[in-house]
Amino acid sequence: MAGDRSDSRRGEGEHPAHGDALDAALAALRAGGLVILPTETVYGLGADASDPAAVAAIYEAKGRPRFNPLISHVADLATAERLAVFDDRARKLARAFWPGPLTLVLPIASDTVVCDLARAGLETVAIRVPAHPMARELLARFGGPVVAPSANRSGRPSPTTFADAVDETGAKAAAALDGGPCVVGLESTVVALLDAPRLLRPGSVTRDQIEAIIGPLAEAEDDAKRSPGRLARHYSPEAPVRLNVDAPAPGEAYLAFGPTRASGNVLNLSVSGDLREAAANLFAFLRAADRTQPTAIAVAPIPAEGLGEAINDRLSRAAGYVG
Ligand code: TXA
Ligand code: MG
Repeated sequence: MAGDRSDSRRGEGEHPAHGDALDAALAALRAGGLVILPTETVYGLGADASDPAAVAAIYEAKGRPRFNPLISHVADLATAERLAVFDDRARKLARAFWPGPLTLVLPIASDTVVCDLARAGLETVAIRVPAHPMARELLARFGGPVVAPSANRSGRPSPTTFADAVDETGAKAAAALDGGPCVVGLESTVVALLDAPRLLRPGSVTRDQIEAIIGPLAEAEDDAKRSPGRLARHYSPEAPVRLNVDAPAPGEAYLAFGPTRASGNVLNLSVSGDLREAAANLFAFLRAADRTQPTAIAVAPIPAEGLGEAINDRLSRAAGYVG
């Protein structure tokens, strides 16, 4: 399904001159490639949020990948309202701070185009409208949401200059936009508006500024504070999950990987054993398997290298091995 589009994703270092850069970035996004894009906070590594294979490539490009949910960037509030359910509080904050360094975590719209992998399987989505003119133009022309984590490799600081961004993940990007140094230099403030409004990540839009508009903010939950990269509770299936299973038991749903002799309630994450395709299918297949109300979801062994690390990390969580 995903196929191997790695060649079209790689620009091999040829970044076109400034005037053509936007066209190249747009073409790259449309082709499922990755784009380095400037925002007012930090440089992001962007991809089409509706394309699971493109989103998988982002996690892969960051190295030591983990499937944390990503922020969907859009051109304006009208586009954002197609992705998520906005209540009064959300609209007030959007009107006050967009475009700008505020991210809102909201329930997904039933017909949201943001794919499962971009949301790490959650029924919520993080959205922001960045203020950087180049990002806004790209997003307006693209029309849909672009997921963009900071363009650093995993465990390294977020890049705030074009040179740093290219240094970090430029080799994985099909296009790169030089928007100069980031004026904010800190990631966006993240506020969840699910039940009580909650500050998930402090940023340059301050608690006071937000509280002035929607009233008191609750703190992020304690476990979120201890591990800032994992603020979100991740999707967990109802059925127990069993890992490294070669032959599922009767009554179990089976997530295969590569060739398998299993038959019955079987979904194959990737018949050809392609990790990017498996990543792209993972959350949707966990959900589909769960809907069959199996005694358990048995999962085939997944190799540990590359994206396999993130797939295994996510599966261990689903199996309840990690907090
Ligand atoms: O300033 C920024 O926000 C930058 C620029 C590029 O826009 N992006 C950025 O993305 O910092 P990232 O992926 O490094 O951080 C996303 C944050 C994480 O803390 C993640 O846990 C949280 O947003 N997040 C995303 N979706 C979420 C969700 N559905 N529920 C809770 N938290 C979520
Ligand atoms: Mg980051």
